[in-house]
Amino acid sequence: MAIQWFPGHMHLTQKTITERLKDIDVVIELLDARLPGSSANPLLAQLTGSKPKLKVLNKQDLADPERTALWLAWYQAQTATGAIPLDASDTAPARKLIDACRALAPLRRGMQRPLRVLICGIPNVGKSTLINTLSAKRQAKTGDEAGVTKIEQRITLEDDFYLWDTPGMLWPRIIVPESGFHLAASGAVGRNAYDEELVALELLGRLQAAYAPLLEARYRLGSTPEQIAAMPDHELLDAIGRKRGAVMSGGRINVQKAAELVLTDFRSGAIGRITLETPPQFEAWLKAGKAV
Ligand code: G4P
Repeated sequence: MAIQWFPGHMHLTQKTITERLKDIDVVIELLDARLPGSSANPLLAQLTGSKPKLKVLNKQDLADPERTALWLAWYQAQTATGAIPLDASDTAPARKLIDACRALAPLRRGMQRPLRVLICGIPNVGKSTLINTLSAKRQAKTGDEAGVTKIEQRITLEDDFYLWDTPGMLWPRIIVPESGFHLAASGAVGRNAYDEELVALELLGRLQAAYAPLLEARYRLGSTPEQIAAMPDHELLDAIGRKRGAVMSGGRINVQKAAELVLTDFRSGAIGRITLETPPQFEAWLKAGKAV
């Protein structure tokens, strides 16, 4: 899928992150809990090397809890990587973040300077929402230190705990095609950059495989989950379009409208709590090396 997804300003973000990383103790990567593998920035993994990392699975209220548990266990099994789930309705995310970061940087105990933490994430993952929640607890401090650029923001969560914000960043190329579809389905990529019908069909394929009962409950197609799972994806899209009134004159299905409907329903959680990928699936895609 041809996705024009690396806008010019992201080069600046990348440069800023690289410079800031030098004196950072812990890197928080905000992930989309519905697509943890696909929303993890492979560039960041290279840039941060062995620095302690905290993976925060945001929007967990929209994700499948069983799959979230699989991802948390998978991250926690990795050296120097912690993981916590979070959602916008969480009233005490600051405490969770602070404790998790301190646990990852225990060797600093007794050091004089504050713990310095950098937070990164793809566009639309919920970083502004989280930062706003965090900032409400303490006055946000911005640009008041030498070397702080306009595109960075420092938030003092505690007197000895600084959080550095960075703008949303994607990476220069799609690593596996599945990730491109998942990122587009989640809304991380601008809508002019992809074909909505293709993305909706790919999304439906995932939902048929793992969440057919949710599709029936949402769209009332009058089919069993087994029948839904066995339907060719374009027939399923047509059936959803027909059911939801995405019909043009002459009775033809307005496929574009049906696709938009499915994507909107997925993004808002209207279909249910869904996670598009599991750790073994994601690892298999990476191994298949289908770089595009
Ligand atoms: P960004 O800075 O990373 O680009 O993302 P931002 O905070 O703007 O969040 C993107 C969208 O995701 C927003 O919805 C926001 O409300 C929603 N969101 C963020 N965190 C969570 C979460 O944990 N759970 C759920 N369910 N949603 C979350 P929006 O529709 O674009 O904006 P709005 O209508 O909420 O203002």
